[in-house]
Amino acid sequence: MADLSTVFTGIRFENPFLLASAPPTESESNILRAYEAGWGGVVTKTIGLHPVVNVRGPKTKFLRADSVGGRLSMAKRPDATLLASWNWELISDKPLDWWIPRLERIKKAYPEKVLVASIMAGSGDDKELDNWQTLVRGVQDAGVDAIELNFSCPHMDRVDMGSNVGKDPVLCSISTRVVKEVARVPVWVKLTPVGADIVEEAGAVFRMDGDAISSSNTFPALPPVDPATLDFEVNVDGFVSAGGLGGPAIFPQSLAKMAEMTQAFPEREFSGIGGISIFDQALSYFLLGCGTVQVATAAMLDHAIGPNVIRGLIGGLTEFLERNANRGWTSLADFRGLRRGSVVAQAEIARPTASDYHGGYEEPAEGYAEAEQPVGA
Ligand SMILES: Cc1cc2nc3c(=O)[nH]c(=O)nc-3n(C[C@H](O)[C@H](O)[C@H](O)COP(=O)(O)O)c2cc1C
Repeated sequence: MADLSTVFTGIRFENPFLLASAPPTESESNILRAYEAGWGGVVTKTIGLHPVVNVRGPKTKFLRADSVGGRLSMAKRPDATLLASWNWELISDKPLDWWIPRLERIKKAYPEKVLVASIMAGSGDDKELDNWQTLVRGVQDAGVDAIELNFSCPHMDRVDMGSNVGKDPVLCSISTRVVKEVARVPVWVKLTPVGADIVEEAGAVFRMDGDAISSSNTFPALPPVDPATLDFEVNVDGFVSAGGLGGPAIFPQSLAKMAEMTQAFPEREFSGIGGISIFDQALSYFLLGCGTVQVATAAMLDHAIGPNVIRGLIGGLTEFLERNANRGWTSLADFRGLRRGSVVAQAEIARPTASDYHGGYEEPAEGYAEAEQPVGA
């Protein structure tokens, strides 16, 4: 019998599919609807203590490609295919006091569903580091099952917040450490995909006993320029700043980042995010070694919380397990990580004549090997 349940960072999930931190999880009513629709868990929209004021005008747009002609635009039109979401939305504009009673009510109403609180503070001074601990105490006392640290929001002005933390292994380890000092629940860390070396940043988190890495958040991106007006398709008074790209376009890039980490830390736990709308994409993350996956863009476009998306994901996993029952597979644990070892260095890929390729170098330098022989040998 197919068993969709899984255990991730010590927490039991009825299925491995979560809503990621984004508008689908910004309110109590959305989260309750998401649980009813079948999601195994949710990560709340990121909660912080610093003031949040979003830009004037739309915060999220969707980039689509014409099926013929090559046009990429955010303009609404028929017969265009979704490529990506683009957003410059900040974290939740609701304060911690607003969230706490809601988290308590949500957890009471659905004790079996997993509730993860995403939180964000700065890392630049002791007051900010105290803010991490205030947030941790607040949400864990409200009953959340786990905490996700946002080291990945790509549009923060502050140099000690969001992806600016995720790009700096020292800040990653300091912030993880102060959180772990007070956390009684598992701590997941959501890293930016655009740091210098995500393996280094993940290593800094794991050294401080972070329990899992979630990846990817959105990739920094600009909207297209409208050729008629010569303005960016999204702008306020003519100005735009880099927002974050999510959805189908980032799926291959997110996979590449995930592969780097699951190979470097095969014993650690990972939650895969980026471009998931059907089970096939979730499967790629599972085969690389992820124990859960999260969805944002696809859910936003499906009645705000993704009832059809979760139905498809659950149906897809069920069918996949049934199809592979002859291999003895009954749950995610039976195939998780099966393709982790298939991502290798370019030099390890077969070529027509293996002896012709030496990793981009000239042939093992002529005479070099001989020159290294000890004199007189
Ligand atoms: C409008 C919008 C708002 C988001 N807000 C947050 C946030 O507050 N915290 C966070 O960690 N990620 C945030 N994200 C990133 C998503 O959680 C997710 O990592 C990203 O969109 C990639 O997943 P997807 O391809 O399924 O959209 C946001 C994404 C979108 C589209």
